[in-house]
Amino acid sequence: MTTNYKVAVLVGSLRRDSLNLKLARALTALAPAGMEFDFVPLGDLPLYNPDLEDNDLPDVWWQFRERIAGADAVLFVTPEYNRSIPGALKNALDVGSRPMGKSVWGGKPAGIVSGSPGGMGGFGANHILRQSLVFLNMPAMQQPEAYVGGLGGLFDAEGNLAKPETRTFLQTFMTAFAAWVARHVDR
Ligand code: FNR
Repeated sequence: MTTNYKVAVLVGSLRRDSLNLKLARALTALAPAGMEFDFVPLGDLPLYNPDLEDNDLPDVWWQFRERIAGADAVLFVTPEYNRSIPGALKNALDVGSRPMGKSVWGGKPAGIVSGSPGGMGGFGANHILRQSLVFLNMPAMQQPEAYVGGLGGLFDAEGNLAKPETRTFLQTFMTAFAAWVARHVDR
């Protein structure tokens, strides 16, 4: 791949020591050449309220929308909260989706990785996110699926991936995602 694609990375956890943030860093480090990543923060976005659109538009909403608009694609890496996506991530989707007719998401190819210390790897969050992406008109890569369970044991004491098979899987995912992005972005 010779073209450089800009990929916004949205991590669904706000936690300082987030395992999903570490997972996102591992994924981006294993990406093939030709992709550059922008980790876009979600934690400081005021809760979406249409009343703020006209006169009180928060600067951070505007900045967030600009950063997503400038990206070719979006990589979501998220934990599962109560069998759904964390509220912060849903709020970010809502902020980027308005004002009506000016959504910054439409047409951007997406990759979805869910991670959990539990065995189901955030399956519920992964699929509930897909439901919103259908409405937001974002083609979400179907295969390979990535439900990363056992997150607590994924990294060694130095923060490196503990098992070679995890590395292989994440690399396979990112190679497929790069091809997915190239297929959906007009250049
Ligand atoms: C969780 N957790 C969790 N895990 C899971 O597999 N399914 C779930 O439905 C939930 N629900 C849930 C709700 C809330 C409010 C919290 C705070 C946590 C556990 C969660 O996967 C765990 O805390 C992860 O470590 C969160 O990801 P980060 O913050 O480490 O990236």
